[in-house]
Amino acid sequence: MTAIDDCTDPGGVPFAELDPALLRTQRTSLKWTRYPEDVLPLFVAEMDFAVAPVVQQALIGRVLASDTGYLDGPGPLAPAFADFARDRWGWDVPHDRVHLATDVATGIVESLRLFRPGGGRIALPTPVYPSFFEVLDEVPFEVVEIPLRTVESGEVSGSGAPRPSRAPEARLDLAAIERAFASDPGVDAFLLCSPHNPHGLIHSPDDLAELARLAARYDVFVVSDEIHAPLAHAGRAFTPFAPLAAAAGALSVTTTSASKGWNLAGTKCSVIVAADERANETLRNLPPEVACRASILGLHASVAAFERGRDWLDRAIARFEANDRLLAELVRDRLPGVRRTPPRAGYLVWLDLRDAGLGDDPHERILRDARVALNDGASFGEGGSGHARLNLACAPDTIREAVERIARILPPKEPA
Ligand SMILES: Cc1ncc(COP(=O)(O)O)c(C=O)c1O
Repeated sequence: MTAIDDCTDPGGVPFAELDPALLRTQRTSLKWTRYPEDVLPLFVAEMDFAVAPVVQQALIGRVLASDTGYLDGPGPLAPAFADFARDRWGWDVPHDRVHLATDVATGIVESLRLFRPGGGRIALPTPVYPSFFEVLDEVPFEVVEIPLRTVESGEVSGSGAPRPSRAPEARLDLAAIERAFASDPGVDAFLLCSPHNPHGLIHSPDDLAELARLAARYDVFVVSDEIHAPLAHAGRAFTPFAPLAAAAGALSVTTTSASKGWNLAGTKCSVIVAADERANETLRNLPPEVACRASILGLHASVAAFERGRDWLDRAIARFEANDRLLAELVRDRLPGVRRTPPRAGYLVWLDLRDAGLGDDPHERILRDARVALNDGASFGEGGSGHARLNLACAPDTIREAVERIARILPPKEPA
């Protein structure tokens, strides 16, 4: 287990310096500009932590060298990513299978344009990262939602016991996926979110192998978005989809980046990785412009992160785990009726608020009356309404404050 300092972020910055009131005066990203000053922003997937020192140095170094032109390819990012993938996940990535894109969203769009130029039907498990729906508006696809199935974890209360504050586990519904693939019209592409946002779910190797088998059998092209994979929690093994796709003969690419792991979304650099030589032949036809649209600053930030930002990453993960333990206690003690899904990767927590007594649109009530901004569950697709997503990448006091604000607007408890 990685040791963490209870008073500082993963880079040693005191939590006092991550006070939201202070950050609001220093940062200009969406997290800090979308809502009025009195709203505590725990919505978009950005971290409050300071950028890892090795990444700061890389960015400063490139700016001081005036190395701010165009990119012509992944260069040092291919070996940096491949080494990270081998060391963390046991995935051997030949360097020439790594291609550049501006960000993961662009990687998804460009892959779909290339592999399925005629569009068609694309399936995705829901509830899922809401921007997928916007991204898929850029390509001629009809979206087929396949809700995750839920499995009670055994933590069920007996008669008279309090309702559990932990939500059931979610999993891919492989039977429903097969029905969709086998239907007429079938499915042309599948967008896998692995680990799955918003649940922080790490798909099991068996589920992924079965998905690969089905994709090969029904000729479905799979884009596996693995942006949250570097953030797998300690002891939770992440399985990359590409080797399974290659073994099953499924056509697949992986889109990923350092942007969630090290909070670099604004530096604009991601990779698209071909699962095998067949996929790579097609990926070589990516328009050269796609690489030029990635940022040279983002590329060097990503190289530093994958190569030298691993200790920082481990401390960030340990902080998320500690913050999630804190949230679990607070939800149990202060938010009756709320059920949380414990994330196995990342720093986003999916909250079921349907029994919290906050009406049909709990996200709106919490924003309006508690002045806490969460992500609205309804925007995550089928199965999302009545839920909200909360961001744990902050100082523990920020989580305490958010929970207290929400606790104050809950209806009074019925006497037992
Ligand atoms: C699953 C998933 N994919 C993609 C993105 C966006 O990545 P990018 O900013 O690189 O497009 C996010 C952002 O939170 C995400 O959670």
